[in-house]
Amino acid sequence: MVYEAIPRTVRILLLGEPGVGKTSLILSLVTEEFTEHVPPKAEEITIPADVTPEQVPTNIIDICVAEQSLEQIAEEIERAHVICIVFSVDRQDTLSKIGTYWLPFVRENCNNDERKPVILVGNKIDLIDYSIIDNIWDIAEEYPEVDRCIECSAKTLMNVSEMFYNAQKAVLHPIGPLYSIEEQE
Ligand code: GTP
Repeated sequence: MVYEAIPRTVRILLLGEPGVGKTSLILSLVTEEFTEHVPPKAEEITIPADVTPEQVPTNIIDICVAEQSLEQIAEEIERAHVICIVFSVDRQDTLSKIGTYWLPFVRENCNNDERKPVILVGNKIDLIDYSIIDNIWDIAEEYPEVDRCIECSAKTLMNVSEMFYNAQKAVLHPIGPLYSIEEQE
C-alpha cells in the first residue's frame, strides 16, 4: 500500500450524504459561529499557513451531490490529500452509506496502490446524548485508510477545529507507511 508523499499544502475534501452538515462545518470553522441557513456548497476556502496549527496552507473543499456530477466529485477526490467523510449521528442511513458507498467510491478514484487518509466525522453530536463512535470501528477495521474518527457539532462548534486539525495531521504525520515495502527495496 502506498501513501502519497507529504505535500506543501493540504487539500481537505468533505464528502458525505446530503444534509449531514458539510457546508455548516466549513462555515462554522471559518466564522466561529453557526449559521442556520447555508448555501448548498461552500466556496473553496484557503486557510493561510500562519493560522493553521501545522503552519501549512490548507484548502478546504465542499461537495454537493445535488449540484455536482459524479465525475466532478471523482476529480476532487483525485486532487485531495485527505478526505473527511461526514455523517449525521442522528441518521443511521448516513453512517451506513459510508461503508456501502463512500469508502468504495473513494477507493475507486485513487490510483491502484495509493491510499488517501480518510477521517470519519460524526456531525450533529448536539442532537444526541450518547456516543456512536463504537458503531464505527467495524468500518474502520475493514478500511485501513481510515485514519481516525471524530464526533463534532457545527452547531455548538464542539470539535470543529479539531476535526480539520486531525485532517491536516493525517497528511503531515501519516500513521501508515509512506511507501510500501516492495517499493523501498
Ligand atoms: P448538502 O449541501 O445537501 O450536501 O448538505 P450538507 O452536508 O452541506 O449539510 P448543511 O451544512 O447544508 O446542513 C444541513 C442541515 O443540518 C442544515 O439545516 C443545518 O443547519 C443542519 N446542521 C448542520 N450541522 C449541524 C449540527 O451540528 N447540529 C445541528 N443540530 N444541525 C446541524
